[in-house]
Amino acid sequence: MTTPAIQLQNLSFGWSKDQPVLKNCSLQVPKGQFWMLLGTNGSGKSTLLRLLVGLLKAQSGQIDVAQPVGFVFQNPDHQLVMPTVGADVAFGLVEENLSMVEIHHRVNEALDAVNLIDLKRRPIYALSGGQKQRIAIAGAISRHCEVLLLDEPTALLDPESQGDLVAQVQRLVKKRGITALWVTHRLEELDYCDGAFLLEHGQVIDQGQPESMREKLIQRWQSASR
Ligand SMILES: Nc1ncnc2c1ncn2[C@@H]1O[C@H](COP(=O)(O)OP(=O)(O)O)[C@@H](O)[C@H]1O
Ligand SMILES: [Mg+2]
Repeated sequence: MTTPAIQLQNLSFGWSKDQPVLKNCSLQVPKGQFWMLLGTNGSGKSTLLRLLVGLLKAQSGQIDVAQPVGFVFQNPDHQLVMPTVGADVAFGLVEENLSMVEIHHRVNEALDAVNLIDLKRRPIYALSGGQKQRIAIAGAISRHCEVLLLDEPTALLDPESQGDLVAQVQRLVKKRGITALWVTHRLEELDYCDGAFLLEHGQVIDQGQPESMREKLIQRWQSASR
């Protein structure tokens, strides 16, 4: 058994005492694997990711996440802050105390990794939604992230870009040994992951291989709609 790069144990969180979102929630993602997190709207998926990066504080429980962590938002317009592609990726490195040469190298390496090196001087506003998400991912890669968390990164993309993005993240994760947790509600994206968690009533109520999870979810939805 490989050591988990993401580990939650008995995590509890609520916006108020009588409105718990996570209740003794536990999950583990082994190092180097690509896992997905599924659950209905409002089940707490975004809350869980925000707890993992430390944007929110849990009421109880333990969180262990390999550092550094990269985070990709559902809406890239909430994440990209600089006027051009190259400047945006470089901006993420300001706290790392690197030389100009090293920054240049990191930015090029990260843009190469997401196949966008040719767009380095392009203004952010001229990018498609899928390209913006890849820039956000390049930002995480440039910081040499060990863990990548993605909150419904395909939600605002057209179907073709959705498939491209998930395939590219899978390749990156495998090539670089990154551990990723990807939130989605699209069953077709399960094809690309090593495993998936189902979050319901504040807990992971099921987890497993993509094929068996897909079948279980289809059955659940069919019986719910009967
Ligand atoms: N900033 C907030 N203040 C109060 N309640 C919130 C806030 N953000 C989310 N919630 C509530 O927490 C629950 C879980 O939300 P969320 O984690 O966004 O779910 P998901 O990402 O699975 O759709 C929902 O009931 C939602 O209404
Ligand atoms: Mg959400």
